Amino acid sequence: MNLKLLVSGIFIGLSLIYFTAVSCNFNPYSQGEWLYRTHCASCHMEDGSGLRDLIPSLHQSPFLTGEQIHSTACLIRYGIKRPDPFDPKVETYPMPPLHQLTETEITNILNYIGNHFGNRAGYVNPIKLQEKLDNCPNAVPRKY
Ligand code: HEC
Repeated sequence: MNLKLLVSGIFIGLSLIYFTAVSCNFNPYSQGEWLYRTHCASCHMEDGSGLRDLIPSLHQSPFLTGEQIHSTACLIRYGIKRPDPFDPKVETYPMPPLHQLTETEITNILNYIGNHFGNRAGYVNPIKLQEKLDNCPNAVPRKY
C-alpha cells in the first residue's frame, strides 16, 4: 500500500515538473524579441528584412557579429546617419536615437537580433557593452 502511494506520488510529481516546464515555453530571447517588435520592427520589419534602400536589412549584418555587436549599442542609443556610399551629397534617411532604452533592454535586443536573422554573434557581454556605452563616439546629450 505504502509502495503504491510512493510510486503514484513520484509519478504525479514528475508529471507536474514536466507540464510546468512545457507550459512555460522557455525562451531566453523573449524580452529582446518583444522590445525589437516594439522599437525596431516598424522600420526594420519583424523579420529584419528592412525596406529596400531606405532601411538596411539586419540579415547577416556586420554590425551584429562577435565583438562588433557591443559597439552597436551606441548606434541604438544615439542613432546613425551615414553618408550615401555612392554620393556623399545625397541625403540619407537617418536612424533616430532611442535614448529611452536601458542598458539591459539594449543587451536583450542585441542578444535577440544577434542570434536571429542569420546572425551568430553569441551572447553580449554586459560589462563590455557598458564600457562601449560610456565612450560612444557618436554620443550627444539628451534634449528632452
Ligand atoms: C525610424 C526607423 C528606424 C528605427 C525605429 C530603427 N532603425 Fe535601425 N536603422 C534605420 C536606418 C535608416 C538605418 C541606416 C542609417 C544610415 O545608414 O544612415 C538603420 C541602421 C541600423 C543598423 C545598421 C545595420 C547595417 O548593417 O547597416 C542596425 C544594427 C540597426 N539599425 C538596428 C536597430 C535596432 C536594434 C532598432 C531598435 C532598437 C532600430 N534599428 C530601430 C532606421 C531605424
